[in-house]
Amino acid sequence: MNEAALRNIGPMPVEISHDEFKARQQRLTSQLRPEDVLILCAAEESTHSNDVHYPFRTMSDMLYFVGWSEPEAIFVLRCVDGSWVSTLFVQPKDTLKEIWEGRRPGVEGALENWPIDEAHSKDDWTNLLSSYIEKSHRILLRTGVREDVDEFIREAIDRRDRSRQHFGTGPVSLEDPSSRISELRLRKSPAEIEQMRFASDVSSYAHVAAMRHSRPGRMEYQFQSTIEGFFVYAGTSGWAYPSIVGCGDNATVLHYKENNDVCEDGEIILIDAGAEFRGYAADITRSWPINGKFSDAQKEIYQLVLDAQYAAIDCCRVGQEYTAPHEAARKVLAEGLIELGIIEQTLEEALDPETGDLRKWYMHNTSHWIGLDVHDVGIYKPNGKPRLLEEGMCLTVEPGLYFGAWRPDVDCPKRYANLGIRIEDDVLVTSGEPDVLTSACPKTVEELESITGNAF
Ligand code: GLY
Ligand code: MN
Ligand code: MN
Repeated sequence: MNEAALRNIGPMPVEISHDEFKARQQRLTSQLRPEDVLILCAAEESTHSNDVHYPFRTMSDMLYFVGWSEPEAIFVLRCVDGSWVSTLFVQPKDTLKEIWEGRRPGVEGALENWPIDEAHSKDDWTNLLSSYIEKSHRILLRTGVREDVDEFIREAIDRRDRSRQHFGTGPVSLEDPSSRISELRLRKSPAEIEQMRFASDVSSYAHVAAMRHSRPGRMEYQFQSTIEGFFVYAGTSGWAYPSIVGCGDNATVLHYKENNDVCEDGEIILIDAGAEFRGYAADITRSWPINGKFSDAQKEIYQLVLDAQYAAIDCCRVGQEYTAPHEAARKVLAEGLIELGIIEQTLEEALDPETGDLRKWYMHNTSHWIGLDVHDVGIYKPNGKPRLLEEGMCLTVEPGLYFGAWRPDVDCPKRYANLGIRIEDDVLVTSGEPDVLTSACPKTVEELESITGNAF
């Protein structure tokens, strides 16, 4: 099964080049002043239970500028005699630790194989950072990641020492560089898009494998295993976010996570699952009948959500406001629900964000940026105005309808009781048509009915 699915996926893309990493560093430093020092920290590892850590996944900004994924790293950019120098502090080689915890590139490996100018042991960061910031003016640091680094910088800013008195130098201000960095990360390069396309392809075929293995009586976690097993089999690092596998009324819980129920005949299964490849996420949701045949009621709602999704995808074009896909999806959904008699309001009333009935059945947004984070960085409303889409931006399009009969806050229409449908794809904005990165994942009624259960 896995081998056959793999044949549909192209070869792994080449890794992002050092030149590109250096160009990203340069794009950032071109916004800085020579007396600035930028510091990026990897978060600390966290404990799962005694002696066991959660799998470590570093900060996306560290991946973006350096591609370095080991714990305890600190990345520094500073200007020396007019040239910007990049420095990485890393875990040094340590045979005993490596025997237990795994091999480390160490200082020499970092210098040889990563896009940096200097590398040092993490044990030297305090001394060296002191000298780097001695003549600085402003420190760019996102606080709240490494407490010891935050404290070190705050003390340096507060200190009134000789150097400051004699030379008037030393850091005086702190700025969070996140918004500058998110501006860069928001527009994806061709090499990044290749990584995302691979994550999307793998995720698409993982969903197909789950569709093919559908039949009543299977457990939700068995679908999770098929999907996540394929993520790993195909060479990704696994899930980009915990998989949501909900059948029947569980599909009406947006972030359902138990994944431990039986899938009954006649139910719809909703799977929201995506792989992470070299840090880049895919985010796909598909919903299909567990027995391979939509009932009339299921088909009415499914087709409505699909029509809303098509309308929303069509808005993912240069110059459109980022809210345009959401508005398009909401309009199609509201019109459809009025036609089906589920909403007894005018279109205008139904769409009212405060009092409209659409929000009873569609309560989330249609899109978020996607990239190194599944909910990727990027300010949605810079200067208070909705951002206009540009070439290279990637966003999800994920309308849904959720009729939870268990909810005390609504009168759920009986015909659609406990039906949850979401359809989610990842879309790249291009100079032409929207490019659906996850287009290998089938979604029409006919496709889903013909694929479902065909592994048996
Ligand atoms: N998978 C989380 C989301 O769709 O936003
Ligand atoms: Mn999403
Ligand atoms: Mn999702």
